Amino acid sequence: MTDDTKHAETLIDYDLHVGEDARHDAAHPAKLRVEGVNFWYDRKQALENVSLDIFDREVTALIGPSGCGKTTLLRCLNRTNDIVAGARMTGRILLDGADINDPDVDPPQIRRRFGWVAQKPNPFPRSVFYNVVYGARLHGVVRTRAEEDALVRDVLERTGLWDEVKDRLNEPGTALSGGQQQRLCVARAISDDPEVLLMDEPASALDPIATMHLEELIETLRKRYCIVIITHNMQQAARISQRAAFFHLGRLVEAGDTQDVLLNPQTDLCRNYVTGRFG
Ligand SMILES: Nc1ncnc2c1ncn2[C@@H]1O[C@H](COP(=O)(O)OP(=O)(O)OP(=O)(O)O)[C@@H](O)[C@H]1O
Ligand SMILES: [Mg+2]
Repeated sequence: MTDDTKHAETLIDYDLHVGEDARHDAAHPAKLRVEGVNFWYDRKQALENVSLDIFDREVTALIGPSGCGKTTLLRCLNRTNDIVAGARMTGRILLDGADINDPDVDPPQIRRRFGWVAQKPNPFPRSVFYNVVYGARLHGVVRTRAEEDALVRDVLERTGLWDEVKDRLNEPGTALSGGQQQRLCVARAISDDPEVLLMDEPASALDPIATMHLEELIETLRKRYCIVIITHNMQQAARISQRAAFFHLGRLVEAGDTQDVLLNPQTDLCRNYVTGRFG
């Protein structure tokens, strides 16, 4: 590497204002790289030539009006769109540099590396304990009751729920408050140690206090995971994300440092959206 390119990379790093533990340079390549992705539901095109780098230990917010393709992209990342009849994708998605759609790749192996948190809290109608331990049991992360107990405690502590539910581990997850249920769903999503957390408007059904708890949790989890979150709330995007990507009609219009995308948009479309003029 010449001194000039080194210097340029240092400047790029500096300009991005990302968290102190996040890096965008040759030594810290994108965790996920979306390259020229097109996606169709039968004849309806939902994504058009989307290219986006997503980095580890950062929160990337996908924003844009309803129907612009945010959920479609999120579901392409962990190959859950595979099961949609009539769906077709071109382009590439690389996870740690490897094409997730390579014919040699086993889709369940890819899905395992992702956790998913849905819009509405959707715990299993089973105990709190079962909700947390489910994925870890399924994937052989824990084998004995002692290991399960330790894992449940650790994950509930990491999701800020332990003190609230330690005496309710045998109660149904559905008996918790909405905010607790959503944090339980995050606990379920991380219990088998994924690398990437995908969240599709996870706070949209929560009250402001529960939203605050969830946002604090996301900030803590960022130190360990790559997080991609869809939100319609620009204040939320500003509070929790380091990078933002604005979509419109299936196209990626702007992407970059969240502050730049929200405060200094380069296109009228993005400016009008983030200032609430449409969407
Ligand atoms: N299973 C499906 N079959 C056919 N069309 C679909 C399907 N799912 C989504 N679409 C269409 O694809 C486009 C993108 O949808 P998508 O759900 O990705 O948007 P979104 O940005 O997540 O919207 P929202 O903010 O409302 O959740 C929309 O026009 C939608 O109607
Ligand atoms: Mg959606």
